[in-house]
Amino acid sequence: MTNNFFDAVKNRRTYYNISADSPVTDERLREIVEYAVKHSPSAFNSQSGRTVLLLAKHHEKLWNMTEDVLRGFVPADQFQQTADKMQSFRAGHGTVLFFEDQNIVKSLQEQFPLYAANFPVWSSQSSAMLQFVVWTGLETEGLGASLQHYGELIEDAVKTEWKIAPEWKLIAQMPFGKPTVEPGEKSFEDISKRSLVFG
Ligand SMILES: Cc1cc2nc3c(=O)[nH]c(=O)nc-3n(C[C@H](O)[C@H](O)[C@H](O)COP(=O)(O)O)c2cc1C
Repeated sequence: MTNNFFDAVKNRRTYYNISADSPVTDERLREIVEYAVKHSPSAFNSQSGRTVLLLAKHHEKLWNMTEDVLRGFVPADQFQQTADKMQSFRAGHGTVLFFEDQNIVKSLQEQFPLYAANFPVWSSQSSAMLQFVVWTGLETEGLGASLQHYGELIEDAVKTEWKIAPEWKLIAQMPFGKPTVEPGEKSFEDISKRSLVFG
């Protein structure tokens, strides 16, 4: 399949080996994230997605904070592996934090009680779409990213550090930078068993 969109979809991969160099300006990074936030779909057009772009010392601070929190959970004799992982993220250029505004989710639940149970699920699905657009957008600009989930451990510290509204729920963290090592080959299940066509 050749077309810029499908090439980008295929080329988006998980990059764990990244450096702080960036082929694009920080202004362009802001533009990409804002564009994704604006144009990614959300249930009922709720626009519940929120992002924070951390660059330079803010990006480093995030991974220092995460490392400090993990030190309290990971046994000391196994911590080096965790520290190395944190360093691999910190070595990047920046991190995009993804949040979902819970006030919007609650307000929709009140407005449409019939679908109340669905709104948290749709919020999560909407965030995933936004994450995918940012991840693939970064890929098209020559950057490599990965998707991380330390939210439960770091949410309070993140909110205090960057004065984030309490109703913003931290969903995911996406460290990115210039790829230094390409990801390994990916294996695929038989597509005919996963995707059916009738007619
Ligand atoms: C919903 C979701 C959650 C993920 N969570 C993590 C994660 O917490 N840590 C991580 O390193 N990768 C995470 N990944 C990345 C997947 O492991 C990765 O996308 C998958 O192995 C396919 O590899 P690729 O991204 O190179 O195509 C996540 C991906 C998705 C879609």
